[in-house]
Amino acid sequence: MTTITQESVPTASKSTTSIQISARAKSTQDSPIRKLSATAEARKQKGIRVYHLNIGQPDLPTPPIVFETIRDLKMSTLAYAPSNGLPQALQAWRTYFEGFGLSLEEKEIIVTAGGSEAIVFAMCAICDYGDDIIVFEPFYTNYNGFASIANIKLNPIPLNIRNGFHLPPSEEIEKHITSRTRGILICNPSNPTGTIYAREEIQRLVEIVKRRNLFLLSDEVYREFAYGTPVNSVLDFPEIDDRSVLLDSTSKRFNVCGARIGALASHNKEIVQSAFRFGMARLSVASIEQLALVPLLKSARTYTQPIVEEFWRRRDIVYEGLKTIPGVISYEPEGAFYIVIGLPVKDAEHFSKWLIEEFEYQGQTILLAPGPGFYATRGAGVNEVRLAFMLNGDDLRKSLVVLRAALEVYGKRF
Ligand SMILES: Cc1ncc(COP(=O)(O)O)c(C=O)c1O
Repeated sequence: MTTITQESVPTASKSTTSIQISARAKSTQDSPIRKLSATAEARKQKGIRVYHLNIGQPDLPTPPIVFETIRDLKMSTLAYAPSNGLPQALQAWRTYFEGFGLSLEEKEIIVTAGGSEAIVFAMCAICDYGDDIIVFEPFYTNYNGFASIANIKLNPIPLNIRNGFHLPPSEEIEKHITSRTRGILICNPSNPTGTIYAREEIQRLVEIVKRRNLFLLSDEVYREFAYGTPVNSVLDFPEIDDRSVLLDSTSKRFNVCGARIGALASHNKEIVQSAFRFGMARLSVASIEQLALVPLLKSARTYTQPIVEEFWRRRDIVYEGLKTIPGVISYEPEGAFYIVIGLPVKDAEHFSKWLIEEFEYQGQTILLAPGPGFYATRGAGVNEVRLAFMLNGDDLRKSLVVLRAALEVYGKRF
């Protein structure tokens, strides 16, 4: 038997070769959205009011029925749930999808740990090491992290703020397809841009994936957050039933981010079976949360409608407010609760840092999410920031007054 003594324990100073973590672990980025949060806290300690426009954590209460359901649960053992999800949760998801005219069998749905796990499962199901997936940038920044976990590449196609970040023509998209491209991932309605793709735009993608033999993955976690524009699901296009994958989540639409309940759904049996097998490897999704959200999924509109109405009001406030700030490039976001705006500055990272470290207007400042974090292409989005509408109407208005004042001062100083 080997006895481990203090002498034999390797230490950094004694070992000749230092042990290395993987290249992909090193290259996985910190959340760019949270980067400036520590400074914001320090600023608050000094008595400055900080308006958080940076983060997409809904500020509204969770429907009380969630906690009531948990209190009423009669369980003696907290067992693993089946790897594809509890029957009650699968049935509830099916009912939920039916409410949007999406007809799915329970065996075509896998309950996942948030939309995040659904996205990782989908990436792993369609790609091998080194394959790529097309994304439209700016994109949800965690797609980078998911791609690292799945060991795949993101293949970004730039969108343009001038047309509200809508999709480019087919030729432009097809130019980016490589021999390793396995699919296209869209986020509809989009985080971070708030864009909702028109039926014709998705049809364009449908034709491409058919022609080029690709999968179409659609992240629809913001489905209900649509302000007068219809949202078409990827599953609304039966001609690609063999290659469409829907990625979904309860987090935002019900204000239950901490419950960690999402879903992957597809009419492609192999995709669903693969997700099931990945699910077996992680055994189970939390069973209490699956049960707690059943009432929400079963009568979704009851709970989502008031939330969506509130965000519609906020969208209007932001859109109208931004139009009055000189030099800001904006557009009317059709959905979700975000907008990416262009600022009259050279470096939005520097501006955001300056705002939170130094600037104040009547004892207030704002925290923004700098644009480059939402791009994979180096140098893209340098004068852009993302705003999330996570403040009540009054605070949103005040935060835009602060933004306007800040741009005036910054423009004179830098
Ligand atoms: C576009 C998008 N997809 C997926 C997710 C993942 O959400 P969750 O894992 O909480 O379901 C988020 C969360 O912010 C998101 O914005």
